[in-house]
Amino acid sequence: MTKSVIKKIARQELIDMVPYLSARRLQAGGGDFNKKTWLNANEASGTGNYKLEAQNVNRYPDFQPESLINAYADYANITPTQLLATRGADEGIELIIRTFCKAYQDNVLICPPTYGMYAISAENHGAGIVEVPTINAELDINGICQHVGNVNVVFLCSPGNPTGNLLAHSQIKEVLDAFSDSAMIVVDEAYIEFSSEQTVTSWLAQYPNLIVLRTLSKAFALAGLRCGFTIANTDVIELIAKVIAPYPVPAPIAELASNALNAQGLSVMNERVALTNQLKADFTIWLEKQSWCEEIYASDANFVLFRTPLKQPIFDALIDNNILIRDQSKQLQLENCLRVTIGSQEELSLVQHTITQMLTHV
Ligand SMILES: Cc1ncc(COP(=O)(O)O)c(C=O)c1O
Repeated sequence: MTKSVIKKIARQELIDMVPYLSARRLQAGGGDFNKKTWLNANEASGTGNYKLEAQNVNRYPDFQPESLINAYADYANITPTQLLATRGADEGIELIIRTFCKAYQDNVLICPPTYGMYAISAENHGAGIVEVPTINAELDINGICQHVGNVNVVFLCSPGNPTGNLLAHSQIKEVLDAFSDSAMIVVDEAYIEFSSEQTVTSWLAQYPNLIVLRTLSKAFALAGLRCGFTIANTDVIELIAKVIAPYPVPAPIAELASNALNAQGLSVMNERVALTNQLKADFTIWLEKQSWCEEIYASDANFVLFRTPLKQPIFDALIDNNILIRDQSKQLQLENCLRVTIGSQEELSLVQHTITQMLTHV
């Protein structure tokens, strides 16, 4: 079969589509993994010491491994039937769109600047994308409400990536109410552990159209496992479970993830969150003192976004020193903005030192 035939039979919209350029895909590069300082993907620095027994891998795993589901349901204070384990929260995003949007007919609504996978998954599925930008990091409720009846899924991200801010609960409730008869409202809580604000999962009984996304990739330091959770009322979970792959959670992943959710795992996670928040506060104070830093976004997550006219020289100097951060300047409203993941104290000191060195040499 020739290349031209492949192009002819493929879905035409995929041919020109730009896939999601994850931090890892953008900056994988070659070289020694351990020589790089990875502050570009909001992962935790350092790894836990997880021991794997991995028995019975000759058998297919349970569709939804009971120990994992029970452990996360306990942690999230919901019932096991309100939960679906997925390959990362990213798979949850895709499944929600596939469950609630008819391809080439229905739309999702997003509020940029926001997490890129909502639009990519929608595009991949053939769902339309309605954009209602935030205003000063708050939802534009009037703008959003103009689309009642026109969209099937609304994605809200709180704390938001890449901005880091929480959305006001009152605003989330306004959206849930406005779309109570017409759309599912997804509240992406990938970073909720870093925030002192309460999760919205306790609203499930009140709002049949609420879906919450969670992950083990951030506070639990398990991005490499690819384990996330979709939380919703049981009828919604039953629907989404119809479109997921037959064995979505590999047995070794379920085992490691369940261990991370036991009492010891939770206490390690809480310590990590406290340390990250302390380091974030220290890094923010340092940024505030830098004359080149024009604006710092208040963050309830494990990263800090800041604006600087020296965006490019700073980014380049860090790259030259094998330090990877994320350039967010192409996102709506985020001209000249860089996002630094709060890694270890040593990693952040390296960032500070490298920038200071670069500036003394220009
Ligand atoms: C807001 C948000 N949602 C979801 C995800 C995806 O998380 P996971 O690693 O569980 O797929 C990320 C990852 O960066 C994120 O920032």
